[in-house]
Amino acid sequence: MMAREVGDAIGVLMNAQPGSVSVHLNVTSCQAVIASCFDFSGRRNKIVYSDMNFPSIMYFWEGQRSRGARVHMVHTDDGVHVPTERLIEAIDEETLLVPISHVVFRSSFIKDVKAIVEKAHRVGAHVVLDCFQSLGNVPVDVQALNVDFAVGGVLKWLCGGPGTSYLYVRPDLAPKLEPKLTGWFAHEDPFAFEIGANQYGEPPFRFMQGTSNVPGFYTAMPGLKIIREAGVERIREKSKKMTARLIELADQRGWRVNAPRDPEQRGGTIAIDMPNAKEVCQELLKRDVLVDFRPRAGVRFSPHFYNTMEEIERAIATVDEILSRMGVAAMP
Ligand SMILES: Cc1ncc(COP(=O)(O)O)c(C=O)c1O
Repeated sequence: MMAREVGDAIGVLMNAQPGSVSVHLNVTSCQAVIASCFDFSGRRNKIVYSDMNFPSIMYFWEGQRSRGARVHMVHTDDGVHVPTERLIEAIDEETLLVPISHVVFRSSFIKDVKAIVEKAHRVGAHVVLDCFQSLGNVPVDVQALNVDFAVGGVLKWLCGGPGTSYLYVRPDLAPKLEPKLTGWFAHEDPFAFEIGANQYGEPPFRFMQGTSNVPGFYTAMPGLKIIREAGVERIREKSKKMTARLIELADQRGWRVNAPRDPEQRGGTIAIDMPNAKEVCQELLKRDVLVDFRPRAGVRFSPHFYNTMEEIERAIATVDEILSRMGVAAMP
């Protein structure tokens, strides 16, 4: 039953109804559960998404081509965002699913989810919202957004560990779905050990398969409690100030910032493409400045509620020091 407890603790943070969030090992397997609810043999077999999706999501859907899925990828021009109109235009009567990121991992761009859901629903398609880069930092309200599915993991903004991901399914849609990636946890009476086809039970277990990653649940729970106590609205307000300061410091040095300038359009991560970004990232890690590097984006700084403005200044001063050691002039 702990799976339900963790699902509900995640659900509260995205205004999901109790019992509507199941837990899984990772976001990729959540896509697989969703895919297994649908049939790609009919006319409605088009999957629309953008090249700003997290690669694992693309790899998964590309892999479904051999099962009849038609993947339509919409491209970015600037590496920061894909125009909403372009995505909306691609969603048509043959579209089955629209798997999109709420906040783009490479640029922090926040998608206009409502507009995408509105178009998808108008033509009978379903939206799968990946909240990995938003939940816990940017407010998410699955009911207000009216998404059909929402997925993500707890190891980033939710301060958890690996091995716990979540799958929200719209409560009025859930009873109509019968995932083919299924197992005894999804049975209406698993401990009856009945023989034959699965008799599907209620959500959230309806979307699960077999034995859960219980150690992962223990790593997830404390972070969820802390985020709830801190409050996502307050986290967001502080985050906007910290990301603004990071952009200001990068601008002063003439470094390229791969994020929207408008604070309302960007999430909590700022990718800065300074000279020798990959090597700079390695040096920052050696000095306990915990960042990471993404090709075509640069060094990603993700300050959270526990960080201070002083730490932001210190992180950038450390980059200055690393670059000057490398013989690269820090100031333009
Ligand atoms: C937007 C997004 N989706 C998914 C993932 C991870 O997927 P998985 O849980 O399958 O490893 C990440 C990882 O950082 C991500 O940023």
